[in-house]
Amino acid sequence: MIETTTNWFAACRVEDAVENGGVCVKCGDEQIALFYFTRRNEWYATQNLCPHRKQMALSRGMIGSAGEEPKVACPFHKKTFSLATGECLSGDECALQTYPVKVENGIVYIDPTPKSY
Ligand code: FES
Repeated sequence: MIETTTNWFAACRVEDAVENGGVCVKCGDEQIALFYFTRRNEWYATQNLCPHRKQMALSRGMIGSAGEEPKVACPFHKKTFSLATGECLSGDECALQTYPVKVENGIVYIDPTPKSY
């Protein structure tokens, strides 16, 4: 059963986001990396903390595609993660928390509520 509680918060205006890049959004005590994948017209949000060496760095990572999979590379040791699922694409046993994103009336919203399945 999927629990579908949502808790949207306004992260930024669309024009404040970095095209084909990320920004760090503070939500309470959480740092969330918000990515505007302009080339694909897609938005993604993940934890900003890289699980490899615990660096708050993913919002500064380079984004791209591995086939159809949107990905981000951590700027520290270049480990890559799926922006869609959070899976580590470098073969490590770590993954990112991902968050839903929506855009309404020029405002980007993130739901930071972890989902229960
Ligand atoms: S800290 Fe991110 S890849 Fe090492």
